[in-house]
Amino acid sequence: MSEALTNGPTISPANGQAAADWWRSAVVYQVYPRSFADSNNDGTGDVGGIIAKLPYLADLGIDAVWVSPWYPSPLADGGYDVSDYRDIHPDFGDLSQADEFITKAHALGMRVLIDLVPNHSSDQHEWFEQALQAGPGSPERDLYIFKDGEGAEGDQAPTNWVSLFGGSAWERVVDSEGKPEQFFLHMFAPEQPDFNWDNEKVAAEFDSILRFWFDRGVDGFRVDVADSMAKDPEFPDMIISEKTGVATLEKYVGSPIFDQPHVLDIHRRWRRVADEYAGSELGARVFVAEAYLTPPERLAKYVEGEQLHTTFNFDYLLSEWSAASQREIINLTLAAHDSIGAPCTWVLSNHDTPRVATRYGKPRSGVRFVDGGIAPEDQEYGWHDMFVLPTDIELGRRRARAAALLELALPGGAYVYQGDELGLDEVEDLPEESLQDPTWLRSGHTIRGRDGCRVPMPWSGSESPFGFGDDAEPWLPMPAHWADRTVEAQDADAHSHLNLYRSALAERRRNAALGDGELTWDDSPADVLSFSREPGFRCIVNFGAEDYPIPADHTVLICSGGASDSSAEVVGTDQAVWLRF
Ligand code: GLC
Repeated sequence: MSEALTNGPTISPANGQAAADWWRSAVVYQVYPRSFADSNNDGTGDVGGIIAKLPYLADLGIDAVWVSPWYPSPLADGGYDVSDYRDIHPDFGDLSQADEFITKAHALGMRVLIDLVPNHSSDQHEWFEQALQAGPGSPERDLYIFKDGEGAEGDQAPTNWVSLFGGSAWERVVDSEGKPEQFFLHMFAPEQPDFNWDNEKVAAEFDSILRFWFDRGVDGFRVDVADSMAKDPEFPDMIISEKTGVATLEKYVGSPIFDQPHVLDIHRRWRRVADEYAGSELGARVFVAEAYLTPPERLAKYVEGEQLHTTFNFDYLLSEWSAASQREIINLTLAAHDSIGAPCTWVLSNHDTPRVATRYGKPRSGVRFVDGGIAPEDQEYGWHDMFVLPTDIELGRRRARAAALLELALPGGAYVYQGDELGLDEVEDLPEESLQDPTWLRSGHTIRGRDGCRVPMPWSGSESPFGFGDDAEPWLPMPAHWADRTVEAQDADAHSHLNLYRSALAERRRNAALGDGELTWDDSPADVLSFSREPGFRCIVNFGAEDYPIPADHTVLICSGGASDSSAEVVGTDQAVWLRF
């Protein structure tokens, strides 16, 4: 048994919420291990680095840490290509350090979530290597999705499916004599073959992987592409997009790879495994689904009854910075979740999306939600197109501060991506030769991909690597202008982004109105969002051009214009306040 369990601390969630329900209001901090802190000065973050920074995380005031994949991996997709689900990447450390991290996080009152990557493995996973050797029709091949090609020569892909990283989702393999034979499916990079979830051996293997980590004391899993393990058994072609003339990855109802109804059977099976641990000292073990599905009712299906506990709310992340769109998506989310009694979650950034401070500084800051969905003209406008527009980073940061107060005041749980508490910007000008995201290569060097939000964290000092490591060149270059965004630089400034987050998280912990529960909208002008929560809490966010007066008889708890500006009388443009009344 791991130390984590023998030490079994009782971790009290914020707001006096029952310990068993900690996940209903948890603020979860995402660590991208490669970029968090480098304890052995090799330019790559590691588990030792996370352990060293646990006091920082505890002081920040979060409830749980989610660590993106830390498993052995060739890193063809930043670790989302796992070659061994029961170990730690040697560049990141080893299992004993993982145990130490879990134990120490618990001792500091924080839960630990790790990433489960069940849709695909690495092509260097021993099962895939065996499948290649065993040949067509073998039980080894049946663990993945191999098919014969179409056409007289069998050289055409089995379907028109495209990969999320560009190009066909099928890759042809060659036999030991170099003769081309079957195709295998990879919804992401060719180095990430999709598992065949209709094979019981795959399902049983993942039950065992869950138990392996639950036994070590992890409190839950973030489930990678949780809507995609089940494929349409008929393998029909995808719909051709009118705009691009190729198969569309849009998540239309009936998509052969996303949101197939039987994917929920897999979730129910995992839930039964998690529930085996409910009586343990640590209490509930939970899942959060990564599923980009819209509208929110579709997503709510994933957290109904005995399935996954929560899902990420990507509509909220994708929404533009406007009162109308934000109100729309908040209302849709609340309504969809209320009807089934599941808590909502809110998220502003992650390792796949441009950082919030940069997004909100663009002339188009996201998609617009109106009348229950994405505005038709926005569906035509590609998400990637937005990021070639110039950024006003001061504007973006001002809005990101207000957004943090809005996010943390909404009912349910919230996610904070590492570095967002520092107001980091997307690094949009990484030199091309440093780009590692497979999107860059597979888009024929037209889409730069996600490296700009994965640049290592700046901790201290005035030049790269800013305390990330000692003096080793970080795996992605760090911009010189981060000298004034380091933790050290922001520590001393009462009004810094970091101290705004600290104040808000501390208030959230002590204020019984925050976390899980309900909100009531107040009457307000169209470009102001104002809502109250019981007892005696109000949040106002001003998206408009005019100052909005703070109502009489209210005490300012926090103002995004300055963390401790209790004398504020108005909410300025792109500002938010938390009030007590
Ligand atoms: C998820 C991950 C992303 C990864 C993909 C394939 O979307 O967040 O980083 O590339 O799944 O595993």
